[in-house]
Amino acid sequence: MGDGMKIGIIGCGYVFDHYMATWEKHPNLELFGIADQDAARSHRAGSYYGLRVYTDNAALLADPAVEVVVNLTSIESHYEVTKAALEAGKHVYSEKPLVTDMDQARELVALAEARGLWLSCAPSNMLSPTSQTMWKAVADGAVGDVRVVYAEFDDNPIYLMEPEGWRSRSGAPWPYLHEYEMGCTWEHVGYHLSWMCAIFGPVRALTAFSKHTLPDKTIQPLDPPDTPDFSVACLDFESGVVGRVTCSIAAPYDHRMRIIGNRGMIHADTYRHYECPVYLEPFTKLSLNARKARSVRTNTLLQFPFGVGGRRVPLVRTPPPGADHIVDPMGKPRWWDLRDLLKRAKRAQLGQQDKCVGIADLTDAVAQNSPPFPGHAFILHLTELTLAIQAAGPDGISHRMSTRFHPLSLPKATQDSCLNFLSFARPSWRDRVSSRVLDRLHRH
Ligand SMILES: NC(=O)c1ccc[n+]([C@@H]2O[C@H](COP(=O)([O-])OP(=O)(O)OC[C@H]3O[C@@H](n4cnc5c(N)ncnc54)[C@H](O)[C@@H]3O)[C@@H](O)[C@H]2O)c1
Repeated sequence: MGDGMKIGIIGCGYVFDHYMATWEKHPNLELFGIADQDAARSHRAGSYYGLRVYTDNAALLADPAVEVVVNLTSIESHYEVTKAALEAGKHVYSEKPLVTDMDQARELVALAEARGLWLSCAPSNMLSPTSQTMWKAVADGAVGDVRVVYAEFDDNPIYLMEPEGWRSRSGAPWPYLHEYEMGCTWEHVGYHLSWMCAIFGPVRALTAFSKHTLPDKTIQPLDPPDTPDFSVACLDFESGVVGRVTCSIAAPYDHRMRIIGNRGMIHADTYRHYECPVYLEPFTKLSLNARKARSVRTNTLLQFPFGVGGRRVPLVRTPPPGADHIVDPMGKPRWWDLRDLLKRAKRAQLGQQDKCVGIADLTDAVAQNSPPFPGHAFILHLTELTLAIQAAGPDGISHRMSTRFHPLSLPKATQDSCLNFLSFARPSWRDRVSSRVLDRLHRH
């Protein structure tokens, strides 16, 4: 599958199909073979996608043709599988969290560096057009000086949605018990931490709280029985920005990302849709006052004339690493084909994550003999943040970070984009006219 650097995937469970969904977007990736400790899993995935199946991990790692290993195993296997792959001389891309212990994280990075190999880790959503657009808008000064950043990760009360029956495209069950045992913070907080740290740099210290809030989410025994399913953390970035990130599987779906400066706000509805629209709202006296009205806050039609919520801005879209153009695996729209239209509507509404973009970046870095984005120091920092937030407990913690990374530069392709978001940062003529009219009315 594909025609580029040869990749071996270990772990053919639920998330494997997510990677397959956008593999075709990346001409620099060739899926050479797969392995899983459960032979039934690897054979099912192999026959579904027509892939070479290795008898076990050792056989895949012993194949000199495989240059990069992608570790999609369950969290508790990340350490042993990544370590074995590095020892076999392969570059590794791991699912998140990298590992569940900081000593192991440092050991893996040291091992990679000692062998001249690269280790990269999901999530990759800071490379999405949505995150890159938000980053470029901040860099252009579109909202002035950023003061606070809010990120929500309420992923629905999933225990009410019968997750026992969820299946991936090729038939892997969603490992709901395991997800409860690992906890939504280990599983999810990295998605928000990654774009926040990419844009605002390293965190100096954090204050966090986490708690098990859903004792009734399953009647099955869990080990451990009380992994936190709610967490909240305040992040004190070295740059002076303050962030707040919340994770739960108790509250209805809310994945909002909001960057608030002293002149306006950039926001997007979800990180999960890599091409989720981004809005830029320059603050005006009118928009800030209008928000006080309940009807304006609850009715998007009323928000429009007051500039509340801002304007949708064009997304920065660049070819992924290792490619010179953008490929849509769905091809051109077939307007006469109802199934095609429904598929597109579903993708637009539910979103699509291009999980392979991180692998494409690592592969491109290997080919160019340059460091991958965002680098070893960044993934250690993200791992420390993730582990500290989940471990905070109901009494809360203050944690001074022991890892840091050099603040990242906006990727070159995005920097070179001809879009300058300062031009969207001024109130529109509509905002100015409504502002005048309302000011007059107010005075009378
Ligand atoms: N499920 C999701 O929605 C989702 C989304 C994003 C990321 N992830 C991440 O993806 C990773 C895998 O999650 P999943 O949902 O696919 O889990 P899963 O349980 O469905 O699949 C994991 C697979 O890894 C295999 N495995 C475990 N240990 C192994 C080992 N030592 N050697 C070889 N194979 C091994 C298992 O047999 C299984 O097939 C996790 O890190 C998870 O956090 C999951």
